[in-house]
Amino acid sequence: MTLILGIETSCDETAAAVVEDGQSILSNVVASQIEIHRRYGGVFPEVASRQHVLSITPVVEEARGEAGVSWDDLEAVAVTYGPGLAGSLLVGVNAAKGIALGCGLPLLGINHIEAHIYANWLPPLPPPQPFDPSAEFRASLAQGRLWGGKKGGGEGPNINFPVLCLVVSGGHTELILMSDHGRYQRLGGTLDDAAGEAFDKVGRLLGFDYPGGPAIEQAARYGDPTAFDLPRAWLGDSYDFSFSGLKTAVLRIVQKYERQLPVVDLAASFQVAVVDVLVEKAKRAAEEYRAEQILLAGGVAANKLLRQEMAQRSTLPVLCPPISLCTDNAAMVAAAAYFRYQAGYRSGWDLDVIPNLKLVDHETRTAGEEVVSRSTDGA
Ligand code: KG4
Ligand code: ZN
Repeated sequence: MTLILGIETSCDETAAAVVEDGQSILSNVVASQIEIHRRYGGVFPEVASRQHVLSITPVVEEARGEAGVSWDDLEAVAVTYGPGLAGSLLVGVNAAKGIALGCGLPLLGINHIEAHIYANWLPPLPPPQPFDPSAEFRASLAQGRLWGGKKGGGEGPNINFPVLCLVVSGGHTELILMSDHGRYQRLGGTLDDAAGEAFDKVGRLLGFDYPGGPAIEQAARYGDPTAFDLPRAWLGDSYDFSFSGLKTAVLRIVQKYERQLPVVDLAASFQVAVVDVLVEKAKRAAEEYRAEQILLAGGVAANKLLRQEMAQRSTLPVLCPPISLCTDNAAMVAAAAYFRYQAGYRSGWDLDVIPNLKLVDHETRTAGEEVVSRSTDGA
């Protein structure tokens, strides 16, 4: 039995989780800062890092307590070290180093994109329970929202390599061929906005609060997706994406209609335009590279239309993480760390944050702890 403490602070969620053998969630605590950043219409980096400082200790303590484990029961500490906001990442990396050093545990730096992919190895979770932080921490969390995810036992799904991963979040839109644990080939990615970023920006144009993705999905339920024929950037045969033309087309419609804007129709038309391109490219890439399965990952993978369309239009099995594990959490960090830990991967005490970290292959040269890393895209 391998218990790993995962820590995630790459953007605006302070999260900690204890996961057994990469698949069984003993605790999963997320303190969301969404309410705080909402007034700025997006994530305010300095505010985010300050809030992580306030939340990290109660969140880690809550994760350990909820899991019912002591520091001695843990086998390793894993933390996201990039990509993400430098100041936010630093809080998690320093906390993880302190715990690992203090408890004599190995430290594993984890790539945030890889962590999103590994959310697919986790079993379905019951919906998160509202968590009432202790009075001691209530003041520091006054503006945050803290909830603890309940235990999710049992086995995750069967995953057969190679798999085609569509990673769609607020910061990333990537098509990645994964041939084994820790082996990645990047097939394409966005040339401008990430899919989640496009949802957030269009959400703002339509008058919704941050984050725009869930708000657009909600509004689209009442709208006609054929009301507006919005552009799709196919970019020839490439596996790259572009959402800036779509965003501009929405802006023009908003300016034209002013107060008469049919918001729900425009939300539905926008959502279907994004999903159309994501699904078509993922499907084509999976066929060309003879993938066994398609994996969705990242915050936008919570979108029900994307999940449905991907499953309906692909002839391959499609796996999606449980909805509550699509957006940032630390269970996915601990899950990714488990497979790296098994392969002998360890980070040094000089582990530093890398805000623009790329997804990197790794291999273990010997049965010991020596690790050879090589980048998949020259970074
Ligand atoms: O993975 P994530 O929590 O953070 C990053 O790593 O960026 O993703 C957050 C993004 C936001 O842009 C948010 O609008 C989007 O995921 N998102 C959604 C949905 N839920 C979250 N987009 C579309 N539909 C949703 N249901
Ligand atoms: Zn993320």
